[in-house]
Amino acid sequence: MSIKRIGVLTSGGDAPGMNAAVRSVVRTAMYYGIECYGILRGYNGLIHGDVIRLDEKKISHIINRGGTVLYTARSKEFMTEEGQKKAASTCKFLGLDGVIAIGGDGTFRGAHALSKYGINVACIPATIDNDINCTNYSIGFDTAANTAIDCIDKLRDTMQSHERCSVVEVMGRNAGYLAMYVGLAVGATAVLVPESPIDFNRDVVEKIRQARFNGFTHYMIVVAEGAGTASDIAAKIKDALDLDPRVTVLGHIQRGGTPSARDRVNATKMGYLAVELLRAGKTNRVVCTEGGRFTDIDINEGLEMRRQIQKIEVDVLAAMTGI
Ligand code: F6P
Repeated sequence: MSIKRIGVLTSGGDAPGMNAAVRSVVRTAMYYGIECYGILRGYNGLIHGDVIRLDEKKISHIINRGGTVLYTARSKEFMTEEGQKKAASTCKFLGLDGVIAIGGDGTFRGAHALSKYGINVACIPATIDNDINCTNYSIGFDTAANTAIDCIDKLRDTMQSHERCSVVEVMGRNAGYLAMYVGLAVGATAVLVPESPIDFNRDVVEKIRQARFNGFTHYMIVVAEGAGTASDIAAKIKDALDLDPRVTVLGHIQRGGTPSARDRVNATKMGYLAVELLRAGKTNRVVCTEGGRFTDIDINEGLEMRRQIQKIEVDVLAAMTGI
């Protein structure tokens, strides 16, 4: 199928590497002689016709930048039928042969809604939470994990000097993938994630007691925001043990910064593959990874999939924190 013009948008929470994906979409489109429009502020931009023509100059030197040059939003208006109709008519008015949406589950649901009005869509997974069930990898996770690790390594220096306990809250919304990965990477004393039922005494108090028994004098507790707040956990530790923990909420720091090599390269591959999907006349697809391989899946199928934290991570964490 010959396509002449496409749009690209970023939606939901931003993630480092989104810009690399936008750049790749634009450069791939131009490579095939396809015009590309940037839709600003996610689906809001489609509703209000807030678009810009993109070319190689507009996207130069963004591969190394965090955030998204297209801005992003969680559009309430687009959740209404009226908003979706407006967005679809903007696509038709602009003569877009397809739209590439970069973001998480909510973004995919939006793309699916748009497709119901006859607009071809392809999605690229991007969220630091890595909670998109149909893909092992989502853009931004790697950078966010490295940022959190860097922060916790710094915290550890002062925790060690003062012989303190630190409770660090890591983002991830309802998912613990980021916290688990970060916890393993920093050698945490305990990691709390929403996917595993928490027994506070077994999972925190006993881990700290054991570490103390083994001669350690500082303790690093990593908690996924979906498993509770760092301040609640710290208060419970204070009640149970003779410790006065310090609380750190890493927050939005985790969403910023220069994207890692992995995020840049994967975003570049995914941007290319999304354009190829539209060129092949496909719609309602998500570019994803499965067993280290790039593939694509139907949006609905992808949204229905469920996955858990890998058993290997749970088993390794038990071994790393169990002595
Ligand atoms: O989905 C990405 C994410 O950063 C979550 O980890 C977090 O819970 C949420 O977005 C924060 O959203 P906001 O930027 O609207 O505060």
